Amino acid sequence: MKQQKVHLIAAARPNFMKVAPLYHALRSQDWCVPLLVHTGQHYDANMSDDFFADLGLPDPDHHLGVGSGSHAEQTGAVMVAYEKVCQRERPDWTVVVGDVNSTVACALVAAKLCIPLAHLEAGLRSGDRSMPEEVNRIVTDRLADLLWTPSLDGDANLKAEGVADERIEFVGNIMIDAFELQRPQIDALGMAVHFDVEPGNYGVVTLHRPSNVDDPAILTQIVEVLAAVSRRLPLVFAVHPRTRARLRDFGLAASLEQQKGIRLSEPLRYNEFMNLVCATKLAITDSGGIQEETTYLGIPCLTLRPNTERPITITQGTNRLVNSETLADVIDSVLNGETRMTKRPELWDGKTAARVAQSLHRHSLRARPERCS
Ligand code: UD1
Repeated sequence: MKQQKVHLIAAARPNFMKVAPLYHALRSQDWCVPLLVHTGQHYDANMSDDFFADLGLPDPDHHLGVGSGSHAEQTGAVMVAYEKVCQRERPDWTVVVGDVNSTVACALVAAKLCIPLAHLEAGLRSGDRSMPEEVNRIVTDRLADLLWTPSLDGDANLKAEGVADERIEFVGNIMIDAFELQRPQIDALGMAVHFDVEPGNYGVVTLHRPSNVDDPAILTQIVEVLAAVSRRLPLVFAVHPRTRARLRDFGLAASLEQQKGIRLSEPLRYNEFMNLVCATKLAITDSGGIQEETTYLGIPCLTLRPNTERPITITQGTNRLVNSETLADVIDSVLNGETRMTKRPELWDGKTAARVAQSLHRHSLRARPERCS
């Protein structure tokens, strides 16, 4: 039997840990050959290549080198470049992950070329269409032939939007697979020592959402709260390139650098960052993935957002939504030992990639997508 070609679309930092476990699971199967397509949405070594290295991914089979731009520029450039790849080497499947601009761009290309399309991490909804990622999720899920959800709220969202039951499969959270695959390497590092903080007695901070970092008044308020917190709890702040640029633009970088309790760092590698998360007292973030990783590890997570597309991290996990006004009080309650009962969400068990590989194989035995027949 001819091996099926499966394009795995990797684009930006949060995609790499979703693609890697699936790449490894598919590489060991005889019915398919996984091919990595890197769109180049993230291109700095510390946002891309280092993650490939840590996650054991080979060089991409196709590198589109798209880079930064406005949403339309970035989405359009990925579409133009990915369409050329598909015309040269038509895949049997395009698999997109997450919710970044490259996800929706490649989904559109596959849908128009009648290439079967699968979405890993389908069904998540924040209900906030001012978030670019929410628009990307809605459009991608509308186009996908096969939708793999990380939690049952995803299934419910998709059904409410009219997606047919047979296209939805609850497979669990593949981020947990990435963490468990890397765990020996993660545990071997000593990032607390590197940052001169005491294990169990520091906080980890990441911020990059436009809603937090692009408005000078909001970013100023967040910086003030972090400075106040750092006088009681040392903070390690791994600064995203967008945030670094805004801190500089708004004249906030110097005041942050002067805080004795704040260790500023470039974006960290995957293994380094997860080592730091494993021994942290709490995380302060606006990332999607960190809400999930902290729930899995039972570590308090304070999410600087008005909503989340990952509600299970609140209902079953350690996550709480905060804003720059409530952050200090919530940190106080965590430092005073207030804990929450938590349980690991169903199928967050490190076996998601195997379930996805099986599902893909099962669906590969069927005909072309219904929409194109
Ligand atoms: C993107 C994703 C977001 C994801 C985040 C994780 C979209 C709409 N957003 O947001 O969902 O959570 O990645 O990081 O797809 N830059 C660099 N080096 C890089 C990459 C970016 O310097 O390797 C700079 C860009 O020039 C730009 C800024 O960082 O100024 C933002 O990058 P961009 O990819 O546009 O969006 P993110 O904010 O990273």
